[in-house]
Amino acid sequence: MFNQKDLKLRTLHPGENIPYSLLLLADETVEAIDRYIHQSVISVLEHEGEMIAVCATAMIDEQVMEIKNIAVREDWQNKGVGYRFLLDIIDKAKEEGCSELVIATADCAQKQLYLYQKAGFQPYRVIPDYFIQNYPEPIFEDGIQLKDQVILKMSL
Ligand code: ACO
Repeated sequence: MFNQKDLKLRTLHPGENIPYSLLLLADETVEAIDRYIHQSVISVLEHEGEMIAVCATAMIDEQVMEIKNIAVREDWQNKGVGYRFLLDIIDKAKEEGCSELVIATADCAQKQLYLYQKAGFQPYRVIPDYFIQNYPEPIFEDGIQLKDQVILKMSL
């Protein structure tokens, strides 16, 4: 576990280096990340000055925010950091007056689906073959090819 007070949440300033190595834990290629990152707000969690997690959010409608990317450094995973970070992002979206928060993942991503629902998201739409049609190469995670995308949402 970790001590909550040792984690610092901050927003990257324009011009700061984009933390691609962390973002690439949650998305396949720099090209895929570049499709949304320049229109996104990038929040990071730091521990003793080191970046241990990233979250990119973007407005996809007037009051609808999407979490485009959330990733926790591998040596910090499964310690509750991702859950804590999601709750921080939900609070931030509420403070900013958003009415809805959206997040998407693969239909076979058990851990992500569990975590997002634990944080209060509900699945509402499946896009068949999303990962086949939107990426040039097949993507495998834990030996399973990603095919359908599940979109989850939460009213704020
Ligand atoms: N199936 C179901 N649940 C699981 C599994 C599994 N295979 N493995 C772990 N879990 C549970 C854990 O028990 C824990 O739940 P609990 O605390 O209730 O016991 C929970 O999943 C994990 O919670 P955290 O420790 O808070 O999560 P973590 O800090 O590891 O962050 C994250 C989660 C962001 C998914 C992280 O693992 C990560 O960076 N993964 C790689 C990148 C990624 O896949 N990002 C999301 C892509 S989708 C998107 O970005 C929109």
